[in-house]
Amino acid sequence: MIKATPILEVRDLRKSYGKVKAVDGISFAVREGSCFGILGPNGAGKTTAIEVIETIHDPDSGTILYRGEAVARSFKENIGIQFQDTSLQEFLTVRETLELFSKLYPRPRPMDEIIADCSLEEFIDRDNRKLSGGQRQRMLLGIALVNNPDLLFLDEPTTGLDPHARRNFWRLVQGIKAQGKTVILTTHYMDEAEYLCDDIIVMDHGHIIESGRPRELLLKHFGEAVIRVPEAAVPAGAAFSCPAESEEGFVSLTCADTDATLRELVAAGVDLRGVLVERRNLDDLFLKLTGSGLD
Ligand SMILES: Nc1ncnc2c1ncn2[C@@H]1O[C@H](COP(=O)(O)OP(=O)(O)OP(=O)(O)O)[C@@H](O)[C@H]1O
Ligand SMILES: [Mg+2]
Repeated sequence: MIKATPILEVRDLRKSYGKVKAVDGISFAVREGSCFGILGPNGAGKTTAIEVIETIHDPDSGTILYRGEAVARSFKENIGIQFQDTSLQEFLTVRETLELFSKLYPRPRPMDEIIADCSLEEFIDRDNRKLSGGQRQRMLLGIALVNNPDLLFLDEPTTGLDPHARRNFWRLVQGIKAQGKTVILTTHYMDEAEYLCDDIIVMDHGHIIESGRPRELLLKHFGEAVIRVPEAAVPAGAAFSCPAESEEGFVSLTCADTDATLRELVAAGVDLRGVLVERRNLDDLFLKLTGSGLD
């Protein structure tokens, strides 16, 4: 099978601010048409990494390849950016704001397509300072799409939105992906990463500490399921073939084969009442890898 050239490849990228190694030698590749998630606690280096890739800041060292070639001036015409923080020209409506950004590009995307893709109809003639959080993020997504980019960078696009607005935003991202565009997304919401991302990297202190497809990573770290047996239900001296850990009054078994482990429990004489079969999610993985909560 011929492996397609990644739309973006990053090799040993580094960027320091004084003594802080914000990005400390990261390498990864992004498949065309995929959604690539960059996860990590506050200060991990996510924004620095994507802003260097977006050519907003110069790297100290490292290589960035777009479709297999070193990024050139034209790279900016192929990408769209939704920044973590954005200030906008005041006293403009949403439509006027989009038009202003459209003028910066030689071949802007037709306005009606952007309005439809980002669900902007309802507030298109409203002052851009009078939007709800969710509406503002949708407008910023629209701005990122004005040049009809192949590659879209979204830096924490749903932070602070209510659950309904977040889901709405996910649908828009899915729609954009369905058009064949590639999305690079940073997020603190693990459910978002699980829902949207085909591949993820987890960063901490400027390094990549884990990478892969969400499902494969969960399988690697937590097996097929975690079976939790109340400690009181485990006969003295019982031993199990999968890794076991005591936590909160339960023995947690990380098992590769749920069926086999349950049979093993029965054979060991374990009373199955009170036994829990749980699937771990990216939140659990994040906590395991970074050893901290999200603040
Ligand atoms: N312009 C700058 N000058 C000095 N230090 C900076 C600058 N930008 C970022 N840093 C530092 O680099 C490190 C990485 O910051 P960065 O903003 O990339 O993290 P992040 O992963 O995006 O965090 P968050 O989840 O909070 O957005 C932090 O220690 C930060 O303080
Ligand atoms: Mg950031």
